[in-house]
Amino acid sequence: MSQTLEDIIARAEREHRLGKAEVAALLSCEGEPVQRLFDAADRVRRAFMGDDVHLRGIIEFSNYCERACHYCGLRRPNAGLPRYRLDVDEIVAIAGAAVPLGYRTVVLQSGEDAYYTQDLMATLIARLKGELGVAVTLSVGERSFEEYRCWKEAGADRYLLKHETADPRLYATLHPDMKYSDRRRCLDHLRELGYQVGSGCMIGLPGQTAVTLADDLLFLKELDVEMAGIGPFIPNPNTPLSKAECGAVEMTLKVIAIARLLMPQVHLPATTALGSIDCKGRQKALNAGANVVMPNITPNKYRRMYEIYPNKICLDDDPAHCRNCIGGIIQSLDRTVADGAGHSPKIPFSHLAG
Ligand code: 5AD
Ligand code: FES
Repeated sequence: MSQTLEDIIARAEREHRLGKAEVAALLSCEGEPVQRLFDAADRVRRAFMGDDVHLRGIIEFSNYCERACHYCGLRRPNAGLPRYRLDVDEIVAIAGAAVPLGYRTVVLQSGEDAYYTQDLMATLIARLKGELGVAVTLSVGERSFEEYRCWKEAGADRYLLKHETADPRLYATLHPDMKYSDRRRCLDHLRELGYQVGSGCMIGLPGQTAVTLADDLLFLKELDVEMAGIGPFIPNPNTPLSKAECGAVEMTLKVIAIARLLMPQVHLPATTALGSIDCKGRQKALNAGANVVMPNITPNKYRRMYEIYPNKICLDDDPAHCRNCIGGIIQSLDRTVADGAGHSPKIPFSHLAG
C-alpha cells in the first residue's frame, strides 16, 4: 500500500529522514497537506531551536565579480553595473555600528573578487574578532584550501557557499566558467577545516524539477550543513535568464519546511529574496521552519549597486530602520530576538560561546 502524504510528514517529523521519492512527493503536494507540512516543520523548529530568531548582519563589501553565473546581476559581463569596493576600515566601522543594534554575527559577502587577497581578508577578520568580538561568516566564493585555512586561523567562524543546484547538468548550464566538482571540493575543505558550513540552493531555476530539488535537500542533509540558505530565483533583466520565470513562494516554503524536518538543528534563514517577491515572505518562512534573518547592514549608497536580482527590499532603508522592522516582525510572530552569537547547536560546535 502506498504511503499517504500524511504518513510521510509524520515519519519525517519523527525520524528526520526520507528517501528521494518521498521528498519529491512532498515537494509536489498541493492544497491541504501543504499547511500540514509547514505546521510539522514549525513544531520541529520549536522543539530543536526554540523561539529565538538569530540576526546576521550582511555587509555587501564588493560587487566586483570574476564569474559569469547566468542568474546573477553581479556577473562580470554585466558592464552596465557600477562597481564598488569597501576598504577594511570602512567594513570594520559598518560592523561596529551594527553591534549596538544587537548584531552578534556579521556576514562578509561579495562577488568573487581577487582584490581581497588572503592577507587582506585575514587582516579584516582579525580586526572584526579582536575589536568587536562578533562571530564572522564569510561568503566570498571559491578559494584555495590555503586561503580558507588562513581565514579560519584568523578567527572566521562560518562560511557560506551555496551549491546553488545539486543537478550537475543544470549547474553546468548556469555556470559556464565553473565546475560542480570544484564547488563540492570547496565545501569539503571548509568542513575539514572546522568551519560551521552553510550551503543552499535557489528554487525555481529554469529546468529544475521536484526530483532535482529533492537532490538538493538530500545533498544538504548528506553534507550535514550547519546552515542552509534557500531562496527563490528572481530573474534579473541584465542577465541571460532575463526572460525566465520567477521561483514560486510556496515551493520555496516547502523546501524550507522539508529542510527543517530532515535537519532539525540546521539554521534556516528567511531569505531577503523571499521577502522581495512576497511582502510577507519572511514571516511565512519563519512559520514554516526558518529561525534566522539576515538583514542588510550595508550603507545605503552601496545597496542599489549590489543588484543580484531586481526589486530587492530595503534599498532605501538604513541599518537601524531594518533592525527595527525585523524586530517588529519577530515580535509579531511571538518569537524572540536571540542575544547570543547563534552558533550551531550541533555537537562539534556546541562548545562555542554564546
Ligand atoms: N535570484 C535569486 N537569488 C540569486 N542569487 C544570485 N542570483 C540570484 C537571482 N537572480 C543568489 C545565489 C548566490 C547568492 C549570492 O545570491 O544563491 O549564492
Ligand atoms: Fe558573481 Fe554569480 S556572477 S556570484
